[in-house]
Amino acid sequence: MFTLGGNLVSVVVALLVVTIAYWKWKYQYWKRRNVPYLEPRIPFGNMEKVIRGKKFFGIEFKNIYKEMKSRGWEHGGIYTFLKPTYIPLDLDYVRNIMTKDFKYFMDRDNYVNEKDPLQAHLLNLSGTRWRNMRAKLTPTFTSGKMKGMFQVMAESQEGLEQKMDEEYKKNEPINIKEILACFTTNIIGTCAFGLDCKALEDENSAFRVFGRNIFNVTKLQVLKRLFARNFPQVAKLLNLSISRKQNVDFIMNMVQDTIEYREKNNFTRNDFMQLLISMKNNKSVDVDGHEGKPLTMDELASQALVFFAAGFETSSTLMTFALYELAKHQQIQETLRNEISSVLEKHNNQISYDSIQDMKYLSQVIDETLRLHPPAAVTNRRCIEDYKLPDQDVIIEKGTTVIIPIIGIHYDEEYYPEPEKFDPERFTDENKKARHNYAFMPFGEGPRNCIGMRFGLLQSKMGLVSLLKNYKFTVNKKTREPLHYQPNHVVLAAQGEIWLDAAKIK
Ligand code: HEM
Repeated sequence: MFTLGGNLVSVVVALLVVTIAYWKWKYQYWKRRNVPYLEPRIPFGNMEKVIRGKKFFGIEFKNIYKEMKSRGWEHGGIYTFLKPTYIPLDLDYVRNIMTKDFKYFMDRDNYVNEKDPLQAHLLNLSGTRWRNMRAKLTPTFTSGKMKGMFQVMAESQEGLEQKMDEEYKKNEPINIKEILACFTTNIIGTCAFGLDCKALEDENSAFRVFGRNIFNVTKLQVLKRLFARNFPQVAKLLNLSISRKQNVDFIMNMVQDTIEYREKNNFTRNDFMQLLISMKNNKSVDVDGHEGKPLTMDELASQALVFFAAGFETSSTLMTFALYELAKHQQIQETLRNEISSVLEKHNNQISYDSIQDMKYLSQVIDETLRLHPPAAVTNRRCIEDYKLPDQDVIIEKGTTVIIPIIGIHYDEEYYPEPEKFDPERFTDENKKARHNYAFMPFGEGPRNCIGMRFGLLQSKMGLVSLLKNYKFTVNKKTREPLHYQPNHVVLAAQGEIWLDAAKIK
């Protein structure tokens, strides 16, 4: 008995020693590659607070960027658990990775289980499959298509005005994010799925509940993703699924019903769903010039899902932070409201596609909000072929994860003096021209940037204009200040929510 116990202890100790030695060896990676790095700690590397759910990953990357920059580095390495992760700081390096040498960094570093029905979407696809899908979907997002879709979008604006009126009459602090998330749920629901989601009428409508589900990541999901990223081969062998079954069923049923209805009744509409249906029913041409396959049902549903997921939360986050900043800066709010009134006057008091394009100061306010609170704080790429840095004896190896520290760059004093200050003047044409193009990239950059940028900006501007023309906003004391971001959220979100008071404009 004693011997058996003694043996067991020896085995455990030996295993522990080997594991620690392996970890230590892994943590030598950046040193071996001649890249400066921040000292990792066993077992979580440089991401302990994020993995333990204590800190929002975006803020951790902001701190990492600041630390590296203060040491005068042009780039640096960290470890996410065991995985070496490369971070470019120098904006020319960032530009090379995202645009100039894009062919080395075409993929995102997402784990995809091909057997998961809704995983074959633009955000996840890699290589040629991504290229072909992106080429097929790009025409869906031109400014012409956005203009054509404006009427469908505008129907949700009336719902927003009604909802705001109800909230105002309650005379209580307003959870502005919830209202705006219902608004964007309705817009994307109607444009991507062709459905009236009724989120503004009922905050617990099926689509709104579904939307909340996808962004409140559970601890189990965080662990599964972490495991899959660090051990993708094992995850594939285990057939590890990241999707939640209830979400998959919800989307598949929704898409099938919509398509069946439209095809049976010969019903067509100017929206994303119609464009996806035509891709399902028609052959296309692939980027290599060969005849492409029509979209399968799974592919169609996946794209509709990603438009919804990538589209509603990012835009409602943008509008929420814009209103928060405007509530804190009354003079800027006043200047913007004056612009809105004078432009609308010129356009018969109609919030139209053209009147929105005429609001220059609104664009500046939106850009400054996106700088301070970029909904997607970082983006990533995977190196798909060994890449030599142009001016250094450093090779980024195939398979390396690259994090583009969007939020870190946005708070860099070198590009934005007093970076914590909200100041839309930073985005006048003249001031924009004076900065490096890659000093501002809330929608990413290069061939793999956000495909829905125009749509996101349009719906956000529409929402802000319709609220600001009718109400003056101030911050309610229920808002926890200074703001902190929620740790377990995919997109930037304020802890405890943002609460505003509204007064009607006479
Ligand atoms: C304020 C609103 C939005 C923000 C801040 C935002 C931000 C981003 C960012 C940072 C990326 C990664 C880009 C990169 O890696 O270079 C991205 C990708 C993407 N976004 Fe958006 N987005 C917004 C709205 C939308 C909307 C409305 C849609 C769809 C209707 C959408 C669909 C997508 C898709 C499909 C991708 C993946 C593109 C690809 O990999 O080819 N986004 N977005």
